[in-house]
Amino acid sequence: MGVSAAGSSGGSPDVLVVGGGLVGLAVAWRAAARGLRVGVVDPAPGGGAARVAAGMLAAVTEVKYGEEALLALNLESQRRYPGFVAELVEAAGEDVGYRECGTLAVALDADDRAELREVYAHQRRLGLPVSWLTGREARRLEPMLAASVRGALLAEGDHQVDGRRLCAALLTACGRLGVDVVRGSARRLLRAGGSPGGRAGGAAGGRVVGVRLDDGTELTAGQVVLAAGSHSALLEGVPEEVLPPVRPVKGQVLRLRMPSGAGAPGAFLGRTVRAVVRGVHLYLVPRLNGELVVGATEEEMGYDTTVTAGGVYELLRDAHELVPGITELPLVETSAGLRPGSPDNAPVLGPSGLDGLALATGHGRNGVLLTPVTADCLAEYLVSGRLPEVAAPFTARRFRRSGAPSAAGAAPAGPALREVVA
Ligand code: GLY
Repeated sequence: MGVSAAGSSGGSPDVLVVGGGLVGLAVAWRAAARGLRVGVVDPAPGGGAARVAAGMLAAVTEVKYGEEALLALNLESQRRYPGFVAELVEAAGEDVGYRECGTLAVALDADDRAELREVYAHQRRLGLPVSWLTGREARRLEPMLAASVRGALLAEGDHQVDGRRLCAALLTACGRLGVDVVRGSARRLLRAGGSPGGRAGGAAGGRVVGVRLDDGTELTAGQVVLAAGSHSALLEGVPEEVLPPVRPVKGQVLRLRMPSGAGAPGAFLGRTVRAVVRGVHLYLVPRLNGELVVGATEEEMGYDTTVTAGGVYELLRDAHELVPGITELPLVETSAGLRPGSPDNAPVLGPSGLDGLALATGHGRNGVLLTPVTADCLAEYLVSGRLPEVAAPFTARRFRRSGAPSAAGAAPAGPALREVVA
């Protein structure tokens, strides 16, 4: 039997968000704030990759060659962060651990230094606000750095936020706006005219009308947003051509405890410190509450979230090279999360090509950073049917081969997507 997601207020909600991780909750909150009735479905709301993530807001220090479009989106979201956080803290009455602390990217030896100088030159060419420091200058800022550090670049605009507290605050803020959060696993997309119990994909039906859960419950809604992170490609009933090309990319992360908070005089570390060690991105993110997050591996292991001895060993070994004193700190937590990776490392936003289904997934290494711009753009799209210009390069259209047939029953990919891009 079909039930509405917004059960308490009666009737179907305007929007059902599949996925109650950071992105899904932020979309729900922003859409509800625009006056839509919103439901969220997730087996563990507030869980997901953001619970594991370090919460670096690293538009500048994550920049890669050839990813200028993604850089523009990352910078835009970084620009929106202070306002987003202020509104959320006001709405939820909870702090989210946003810290404007800057980031120091460090070179450990002469080869690293040569490579980091290239990165620095690239960043300067792009007009990004970075400055070069000698090893001595870097150690003056962060005295716990290894004596071998040969140079560093300082990105004073790359900050941090606590993903766990962000999720908790979003759950509160959603609750205050009447968002109905349903604990359950969405198994299958439902479409008007589809045969009950029909096979995944294929020609079953027209406009999207909701989802069926694992336990058979059907949740109906005016529109569905697929924001299920690394699980976004697993929803049955989505035609193959429409399914977002998202895969899980495992990241193992450690949490240690510093003797005092990052803001205290003589703190163990005062700002985010990162390096590329043996080709692996290593970062240490110190929080005001004394937590030190060390990450992260990058592994193509499917849906495996096992914390391995090798993963922990490599992170500690590399972190010890960067900050030798780290081995004195208590290790309080190990965890592994799954980034929703996409073929070009950029998110998939807005129209799916299927009437009634929108996408907010594929954020890869930048999910926490991209949350504000994703939520704003999706809310606008859900309200007006038009996707803001800043998100236009990130629709699913970029993955469609020209001349490929559109999904059976799906709106034709080209025109449908063009119409909704403002
Ligand atoms: N944002 C850093 C990571 O994904 O490891």
